[in-house]
Amino acid sequence: MEGTRIADADDAPPAPWMRPPPARSGDGVDAIDTPALVVDIDAMERNIERLAAFATRHRLRLRPHAKTHKCAAVAQRQIAAGAVGVCVQKAGEALALAAAGISDIYISNPVVDAAKLARVAQLAGRTRLAIAVDSVAGSERLAQALAAAGSVADVFVEIDVGQGRCGVEPAAAGALARQVVAHGLRLAGLQAYHGRAQHLRSAHERAQAIGHAAAAVRAAEASMSRAGLSCPLVTGAGTGSFLVEATSGVWGELQAGSYVFMDRDYADSEPTPGAPVFEHALFVKSQVTSRGLAHAVVDAGHKSHAIDSGLPRVWQRELDFANGGDEHGILRPCRPTAADELPAIGETVWLVPGHCDPTVNLHDHLVAVRGGLVHGRVAEVWRVDARGRVD
Ligand SMILES: Cc1ncc(COP(=O)(O)O)c(C=O)c1O
Repeated sequence: MEGTRIADADDAPPAPWMRPPPARSGDGVDAIDTPALVVDIDAMERNIERLAAFATRHRLRLRPHAKTHKCAAVAQRQIAAGAVGVCVQKAGEALALAAAGISDIYISNPVVDAAKLARVAQLAGRTRLAIAVDSVAGSERLAQALAAAGSVADVFVEIDVGQGRCGVEPAAAGALARQVVAHGLRLAGLQAYHGRAQHLRSAHERAQAIGHAAAAVRAAEASMSRAGLSCPLVTGAGTGSFLVEATSGVWGELQAGSYVFMDRDYADSEPTPGAPVFEHALFVKSQVTSRGLAHAVVDAGHKSHAIDSGLPRVWQRELDFANGGDEHGILRPCRPTAADELPAIGETVWLVPGHCDPTVNLHDHLVAVRGGLVHGRVAEVWRVDARGRVD
């Protein structure tokens, strides 16, 4: 893609501790070594287009969350489709993606450690950077780090909109925003993300939770106004709820992340009426390494896919996946009459991971396939640039 620096794993310098890329550009899908994390690039591009078109239709900024893919090649495609930049959750992710060519990054999470803030402040001198704060101490430390580096960053005050995780109470937003300004920082608005609401199963429950979140944002804006400050932008929302934020009249920027890959957990929720539909685009390619009379064993266990949100779904086969431990998955027919569904030794089985973000963090490479999982070819192999950057 023009103007982008896409890490092509084929060019990666060899490192003895690193697994070689599981495939090379031009390979057929059959040649992809297993287990491997494979992106159906056609489906991914449709997902990217659908959310970009939605944001345009609703006149909203889109800043997808890159914690999902940790990959500059994917971020570049989101930006090319209209995103203003990406979010990350960690300072290390920001550094890794900036080094891979991403130039507009928002760390949507407080960073308070002085050494990390020094790295963030250095980065802010080289790229457009924003960061969330939710404490006076954090704001003060950020201001010191930026002053020492002679750099600037946009600052969002994070409020707790119902998750009970990070963020100040809405009524305290004005006081903290005042401190941000008093510390000489550039106040950019409010960070308002409701993580727990994303995974509520019914659309009604999600709408209710985001309704409460919207009331919290309005209370925070009123608190800022009492403090003599206006709120330039409210940013937040995820794949489970973004339609509700988008139509609330409160949020100005959407941060959805998982939509790009769509994991099994999100697919299990009731769709939000009227919201764009996203396709599974992330798969673990596995193969059968052992067969019993009534089960088959694949070479992908929970070192290949995260299981915090449940086990993977077997893609387009009448098979249930049971946990076989670190390196194995156990497949059984969904129905007793489907015993002939059991795959043979060496056969490929595609898995849809339960939770895409931590699954990606288990792999060095994403193998991007064009033309489908059956007859497609490897278009590119991407490095997971921010793999392991939990710092
Ligand atoms: C602050 C923030 N914004 C946005 C997202 C994106 O959410 P999702 O991947 O559910 O779309 C996350 C995900 O955890 C997040 O922590």
